[in-house]
Amino acid sequence: MKETLNNIKKLSPDKMPQHIAIIMDGNGRWAQKNGLPRIAGHWAGAETLKSIVESCSKLKIKVLTVFAFSTENWKRPIEEVSSLMNLLLYYFKKEVDALHKNNVKIVISGNWEELPEKIADQIRKSMTKTQNNSGLILNIALNYGGRSEILFACKNICTDVLNGDLCIDKIDEKLFEQYLYTYGLPDPDLLIRPSGELRISNFLLWQIAYSELWFTQTYWPDFKEEDLICAIYDYQTRERRFGGLKK
Ligand code: IPE
Ligand code: IPE
Ligand code: MG
Repeated sequence: MKETLNNIKKLSPDKMPQHIAIIMDGNGRWAQKNGLPRIAGHWAGAETLKSIVESCSKLKIKVLTVFAFSTENWKRPIEEVSSLMNLLLYYFKKEVDALHKNNVKIVISGNWEELPEKIADQIRKSMTKTQNNSGLILNIALNYGGRSEILFACKNICTDVLNGDLCIDKIDEKLFEQYLYTYGLPDPDLLIRPSGELRISNFLLWQIAYSELWFTQTYWPDFKEEDLICAIYDYQTRERRFGGLKK
């Protein structure tokens, strides 16, 4: 605890990332390492999420985006997918009051409306309940895929053009962003992937164009506030040039 406080003090308050995105990976391997079924790893991962949300609130991060279920995760065995759906339902039912008390605003990126109705209904309620909160924005990427998000945006842009509501000359990066799930949120400054995998796995393909990437071998269920602080500290030492030159 004392060490964490000391580490927090090392951070420069004026260089905090506004938006942190996390690929919550390694639950299955964590479970295997501990001789447990994969789903136990997902439950342990949900506990980590609770603590990292609290840390981000404490650190006054504006947006935390977490990858919870990808459009490709449907390929997993039916038993794992249905256990994950049960976990999601439980999370949205049980955690929303605590998040609301903590002034957290819940938003979703992804095709959540096509999830089983019980979950979609709970998500709707969670978003409505927390919509006026002014603290951390918790953006949960659910049934989310970066490519499918970009296609969805393209289709909606085409529809608006065909209906005469949009002129092709008006299509630029700024306008395109209005058609993404993340409209209104800043791009992630820092992308964290635990579990040792060095890939993006179809996460936020458009939005991470200039994000700083940070990887760790630690599995998500073992990821602690210290790891988050380490990632932010490392981020603060980097020079972001966005294609320009050194200041
Ligand atoms: C991430 O953990 C959670 C989801 C993809 C839902 P994994 O289940 O991918 O864990 P590993 O990568 O198999 O260890
Ligand atoms: C990415 O992890 C998706 C989530 C964490 C929800 P995966 O475990 O699905 O990614 P791959 O298969 O290792 O690329
Ligand atoms: Mg994985």
